[in-house]
Order: sequence, then C-alpha cells, then structure tokens
Amino acid sequence: MNVITEVAETHDLRADDATYVWHPFTQAKHSTQPPIFVRGEGARLYDDAGHSVLDLISSWWVNLHGHAHPVIAEAIAEQARTLEQVHFAGASHPSAITYARELVNALTPPLQRVFYSDNGSTAVEAALKIAIQYWQNLGKPRRRLLAFEGGYHGDTFGAMSAGRGTSYFSPFTAWLFPVDLLRYATATSDSDPEPNEQRALAFLDRYLDNYGYDVAACILEPLVQGAGGMRMSRPSFVKQVIERLQARGILVILDEVLTGFGRTGTMWAYEQLGIVPDMLCLAKGMTGGFLPLAATVVTEPIYNAFLHDRTERAFLHGHSYTANPLGCAAALASLRLFKQEDTLQKVATLASIHANELPQVRIIPGVSKTRYCGSIAAFELDLKPQEMATFVSRLLETDVLIRPLGKTVYLLPPYCLAPEDLKRTYALIRRILQR
Ligand SMILES: Cc1ncc(COP(=O)(O)O)c(C=O)c1O
Repeated sequence: MNVITEVAETHDLRADDATYVWHPFTQAKHSTQPPIFVRGEGARLYDDAGHSVLDLISSWWVNLHGHAHPVIAEAIAEQARTLEQVHFAGASHPSAITYARELVNALTPPLQRVFYSDNGSTAVEAALKIAIQYWQNLGKPRRRLLAFEGGYHGDTFGAMSAGRGTSYFSPFTAWLFPVDLLRYATATSDSDPEPNEQRALAFLDRYLDNYGYDVAACILEPLVQGAGGMRMSRPSFVKQVIERLQARGILVILDEVLTGFGRTGTMWAYEQLGIVPDMLCLAKGMTGGFLPLAATVVTEPIYNAFLHDRTERAFLHGHSYTANPLGCAAALASLRLFKQEDTLQKVATLASIHANELPQVRIIPGVSKTRYCGSIAAFELDLKPQEMATFVSRLLETDVLIRPLGKTVYLLPPYCLAPEDLKRTYALIRRILQR
C-alpha cells in the first residue's frame, strides 16, 4: 500500500483539508468542499470516489501532454535515483545544461542565456531586476518600467507592481513600486478592434515621446492576457507595440508564462509577431505540469553587460532550488515530447474545434465576446456570481472541470484532450446554458 492510499484509508481527508489547509485564491468562508483528486491520466482527473472529470483548465494552465504522462514520470524517477538536487551557484549538472541547450535551440537568436528559477512570478522578478541592473551596468541608468492594463505577471511584489492593471492586488496597492501602465487593445467577436488599437498606439507614441528615453523595460503578455480575463489581441497590434518599444532601445520582456509551450498554436506566441523579445519569461508548462521550474531567457548582449571584474556587476540573485535536477529532467522530457508526439498538430486540431464551435455558443442569450487563440477559447457569460457557480458545478457533475475568471469562461485543455471530448464539452456547455 503506498503512502497516499494508506492516508486516504485511515484519515478523513475532507475534515483534514478543512482543518489544516489554506487554499490559494479562495474565500474559505464561502467555498464548498473541494473535490479531492487522487489520480490523473491523460486529460482526466479521478477523485477519491472513483469519479473522473476532464481537466479543461490544464490544472491552472500547467499541464501540456496529459496527467501522469509516463515518459515524464519516468524521467523524473530516473533523475531522482541519480541526483535529486545540487546548488546551482558555482556548480552545474547535466539536466540543466542539456535543457538549456535544447530550449535555446527551440527559441530564436539572439535569445541565448537561460536563467533558471522556480515559477512564473520568480521568472518575472528576475527579468525586472536584470532590466534595471542592465542599464546601471552600462552606466546609463533608466528609471521607468512599463506595463499594460489588463496584464498579470504573478503575485510577488515586483510581479504585482507590473500587474497592477488587474484587480487582484488592492490591499497592496500602496506598497507596490511605480510601473507606468499604458492602454492596451483587445479583440473579440463583437466589435472591430481597429479603433481601439489605433487609440492605444497613439497613447503609446505620446508616452514614448515624453518618457521613452528613460524606460528600462516593458513587460507584456503577448497575444493573450490570461489572468486579466483571457483578453486576446491581434498579432498585428502587439507587433506594432513591440516594434515601437524596441525602436527606442527599451528592453522588451515577453511574459510567456501562459502562452509559451504551444498554447497559442505556435511553440512561442512571439513567433506570430515576427519579432524577438529581449527577454522571455517561461514557467507553467515548462515541466509538462509536473514540477515547479521557470526560466528567464535573455539575449547575449544582455548577459554580456553583467561580465566584469567587479562581483557586484554580476546578477546576484537566485533561489535554493534554482535549476532543480528533477524539474530540469521533467522539462527536457516534456520538450522532447513535442516532436515525439507531434504536439503542435494536436493544438491545431483543438484550435479548429474552437473555431467551429464558438459561433454556436455565441448565439446563446447571455453569451458575448467569443474568442480563441490556439488551444485557448473564452467568452463572457452574463451571470451573477451564484449563477456562475451553479453553471460550474453543473459542468463538473456532467464531466468537465472549469474555473471561470469572474464573468469570463475559458477552456484551456491539455493538448492530449481527444477532439470528441472537446466537442462534447461544447455540447454540454450549450445544453446547460440553453436551459
Ligand atoms: C502570464 C503570467 N505570468 C506570471 C504568472 C505567475 O506564475 P506563477 O503562478 O507560477 O507564479 C502567471 C500565473 O498565472 C501568468 O499567467
């Protein structure tokens, strides 16, 4: 009997969960008992009563190839038997080195140097600090950082400061450091995005004329602003934003924590923009959803600005588990699966189902602003919070796990989801909403 089965048989897990656990992003006073999942396989999660549901949020956007994928599980087990952890300052190990090489080969030059950390927020913190120190190291310090309304970059203080355009951080607003927040433009089924895009670009131009010389870096989520409400933008707009920033020498940090690893249809969202960022933040799907690992990838000129005889010119930043070997082994296995399982083709299939199905959802009263980008689909549902909760539990009872963001319903499946299962999910959504 393994330890999990033993605990499940000897303890009341529901009572223990209610007594000892503090769940993230949850108002415990109102929350109902959460399902307790004991097993995962493919796109399904199994609870302790043996019921299964389709995981249509990829377990908070981390899962790519399916739960408990045997290839990744085996890579982790093999690594655990060999070397579980070693410090990464002044030491290295094969999995981190090999993954860095293979990741860089999957990216676009001049992205070249992989700085490892633990999660999306730490990847963003590292990027912001690198940007600030980069200009100091060059002897031309710049004082401003730039971000866009609707952008979310994580829950640590630097990431919150850059993500102040979302509504999550009100208790901390007074404690955040200043980041200039600019207008952004999104696109949905309901209106022509062009006028908003032109307004946002004009706003950006005015800002850059006044302050561009002093901006160290700009951070943005390309194509999809996830936690801000699955706000999607046209590639042509995002491209124009980035070209304007790079023309002023502003370091462009693309936060692809959500959009990386195939979510938007290409391996990296930036490929659809015809630009290459100066820094790229990756996390979430990096290990296929098995372990926390992240990377801030930078260009060689940025890396070179930290080379100096004086120690304090180095990037003196890191975490205990930086480049944890288990995470790196999982990441390597996950990256290789893209070729072995022709993963981007699976994403293309999911995207074409979204394209076919969304118009039929759009015509249901209360539904608006349907949109999709690669494997991610979203729409607005005009329901009160309690009605939305009922909608979510109906879906859960009938086989599908989702977790709306306010009034935004989104589907973000693992790529292994069978096409019939995605079509069936849409049929369930339609049936419940039409009632
Ligand atoms: C775009 C983006 N950046 C950063 C983060 C923070 O990642 P983590 O939750 O791993 O700290 C998230 C998390 O949702 C995200 O969507």
